Amino acid sequence: MTIVELGTEAADAAVDLWTASDLTRPWNDPYGDFARAVAGPSSAVLGLYDGETLVGTAMVGVDGHRGWVYYLAAHPARRGEGIGLALVAAVERWVEERGMPKIQLMVRRTNTAVVGFYAALGYAEQDCVVLGRRFDGSSGGAVAAEPS
Ligand SMILES: CC(C)(COP(=O)(O)OP(=O)(O)OC[C@H]1O[C@@H](n2cnc3c(N)ncnc32)[C@H](O)[C@@H]1OP(=O)(O)O)[C@@H](O)C(=O)NCCC(=O)NCCS
Repeated sequence: MTIVELGTEAADAAVDLWTASDLTRPWNDPYGDFARAVAGPSSAVLGLYDGETLVGTAMVGVDGHRGWVYYLAAHPARRGEGIGLALVAAVERWVEERGMPKIQLMVRRTNTAVVGFYAALGYAEQDCVVLGRRFDGSSGGAVAAEPS
């Protein structure tokens, strides 16, 4: 198994993997995400291949302050084989090599299953609230405000 930085030709395989792993959402364009990440100087999509088959991905980027990970996925039929672990090690290396002191990621509140995976790797909940705003004005999965 080898881990490489994916190029544009791997977009279909990566998006298929993200869809099968329930990581896509209607308000996100996974092809746009993929294209921007592989084109940018401070981001990449790492892919783990078993022969010719893409069986794992992780999108990684640095913003000058820290590294971020998105779209970590192991093919549903290949879970529990160490693919996730190998990809986290690779993205951590990628971020450290660029001089960042820290790596972090967001987990959707509904994705409770994956928290144990990260916790076992030393990832701890951070004392912050994530705020965002979409430029198209849609809620894009934002948590509804509490009624006053
Ligand atoms: C998270 C994910 C990438 C893990 O990939 P994987 O290849 O199955 O993980 P590994 O085989 O490398 O597992 C490494 C270790 O974590 C453990 N582990 C895996 N998933 C776990 C989970 N959900 N909770 C707790 N431990 C978990 C494994 O048991 C293994 O431990 P061990 O070495 O002591 O046996 C995979 O479950 C996945 O693609 N999930 C769906 C997509 C997703 O939610 N991505 C994260 C978005 S934030």
